Amino acid sequence: MNALNKKTVDDINVKGQRVLVRCDFNVPLKEGVITDENRIVAALPTIKKLIADGGKVILCSHLGKPKGEPKPELSLAPVAKRLSELLGKDVVFAADDNVVGENAKKAVSEMKDGDVVLLENTRYRAEETKNVETFSEELGSLADIFVNDAFGTAHRAHCSTVGVVSYVKEAVAGYLIGKELKYLGGAVDNPARPFITILGGAKVSDKLTVIENLLNKADTLIIGGGMAYTFLAAKGLSVGTSLLDEEKIDYCKDMLKKAEEKGVKILLPVDCAVAESFPDPIDAPLDVQFVDADKMPDGLMGLDIGPKSCELFANEAMNAKTVVWNGPMGVSENPTLAA
Ligand code: 3PG
Repeated sequence: MNALNKKTVDDINVKGQRVLVRCDFNVPLKEGVITDENRIVAALPTIKKLIADGGKVILCSHLGKPKGEPKPELSLAPVAKRLSELLGKDVVFAADDNVVGENAKKAVSEMKDGDVVLLENTRYRAEETKNVETFSEELGSLADIFVNDAFGTAHRAHCSTVGVVSYVKEAVAGYLIGKELKYLGGAVDNPARPFITILGGAKVSDKLTVIENLLNKADTLIIGGGMAYTFLAAKGLSVGTSLLDEEKIDYCKDMLKKAEEKGVKILLPVDCAVAESFPDPIDAPLDVQFVDADKMPDGLMGLDIGPKSCELFANEAMNAKTVVWNGPMGVSENPTLAA
């Protein structure tokens, strides 16, 4: 155990054991080429430790949103290749469309201590995101020990992050989870104030408990990204064709009210970058105009915060002593909006 009060890879003996490691290899790909390998590099300390300790290291991850069916462009094959280069050793890729198929079973059965196998994209299976027991059990059947090191996916209760734990002898945290919890835990539980949090990303429903918890801790909550439009709608503004979580409008109203009662400042975008539609592909050339948030034109879609919001948010962040930021303020994958 450690200061985090969580068992980690330092607390177990993996020699000769089959260790399933949930990584977050959800890396950006362009025509099969990885354009940012940070997440692979971040997973290396745990993987190297398990190899050095003589574990049989079985890696798994999701990549993108294949929605429960095999999509060759979202295969983890390029990750296996890059990982093998970074580790300087073979990474056997088990190319099963059903993830735990004949290739995976054979590869695992042939593993020697210190070997590495990578499974195919866990989201090729429809059960994954619904945390259905059958797939959790299949994943668990490959391993003795489960290591969760997928910090970027730790908010998802899926088969490969949560369900699988019931089907292994032991489950522990990896170094990346440990590191992130240490910094994030410290920042959130004992922040130097003013403590501001910046929340972005597409959907309010992904962040329900986060928003509520942060209202008890933060001095200011800045909300941008797709989820901001539901908050703007909750304030009675029209949001054109922007992403709207209709079912969550009342929740947002409630949060705005709670914030007021608690004296927590909530900052929403005061202007937005709007376009005719969502860029397809996501990095396609895009014509945007900036409009005030209370004057969103009917047929246009908000895709980012505008310059006035940038200034407002940046000024607030400048005066903070602690900033915790989760999620992009807009469609940051598009070069026009990347800034
Ligand atoms: C991320 O990139 O945010 C994580 O990998 C989680 O991906 P998800 O939002 O598709 O679950």
